[in-house]
Amino acid sequence: PRRVRVHHLQAAKDRGERLTMLTAYDAPTARIFDEAGIDMLLVGDSIGNTMHGHATTLPVTLDEIVVAARAVAGAVRRAFVVADLPFGTYEAGPEQALASAVRLMKETGVAAVKLEGGRRSVPQIRALTQAGIPVVAHLGYTPQSENALGGPRVQGRGAAAEEVSEDAVAVTDAGAVAIVLEMVPAPVAARITEVVRVPTIGIGAGPQCDGQVLVWVDMAGMGEWSPRFAKRFGEIGAALTSAARDYADEVRAGTFPAASHAFDA
Ligand code: KIV
Ligand code: NA
Repeated sequence: PRRVRVHHLQAAKDRGERLTMLTAYDAPTARIFDEAGIDMLLVGDSIGNTMHGHATTLPVTLDEIVVAARAVAGAVRRAFVVADLPFGTYEAGPEQALASAVRLMKETGVAAVKLEGGRRSVPQIRALTQAGIPVVAHLGYTPQSENALGGPRVQGRGAAAEEVSEDAVAVTDAGAVAIVLEMVPAPVAARITEVVRVPTIGIGAGPQCDGQVLVWVDMAGMGEWSPRFAKRFGEIGAALTSAARDYADEVRAGTFPAASHAFDA
């Protein structure tokens, strides 16, 4: 399969083809999603919540993203892999952002990085773009700011719609190659999608975005809770529970391992 490159994202929007994106945090899931034809994989800092047992994304380190991103980028043949810049690795300014992003590009093989924030992140987006690093912006509900935003809440209702729109225009002008819109009212996301040239990738942002992204554990039914905007397309948690129970039953009953699983003298 031909590798998805940065210009294919824009071409997809221009042709009216929707982009598909899922998170991935390790090689086996990345291989599965890549073979399923998912266009873009995000090594999200949601790894903190989904894999490392934290309540928020704030404790996630660049070292943790590097390890996960290397595994994901190394496992795919087609998908466009994006890695998140975690909290505390880019806010200080363009130099800090560049140092963090360069490390990700050198050590992992991802195709792009993602960072949160609109107008406040424009200098960082500009610096990375000028250095040849494609940037995906992330607007609307931005989990790294959850303490300031008061938890997961829809952003851009009423008069605030104009703020999100201005952020979308600003990050596009700064060079962002795509924009994730998280928990933005559907009509607001639809208008931004019409106005900006680059593809919008929605999560809790309605059906009119140029693409959709979900956290894979929410999409696949791994974990007991999932947000309202996610849909469970599978029951991987239940499948794993059942496999673990069957294994334990057979070990206790002495039916596993069978002769075929054992070695002769
Ligand atoms: O870290 C993540 O999973 C994300 C998506 C929710 C867009 O940033
Ligand atoms: Na993220």
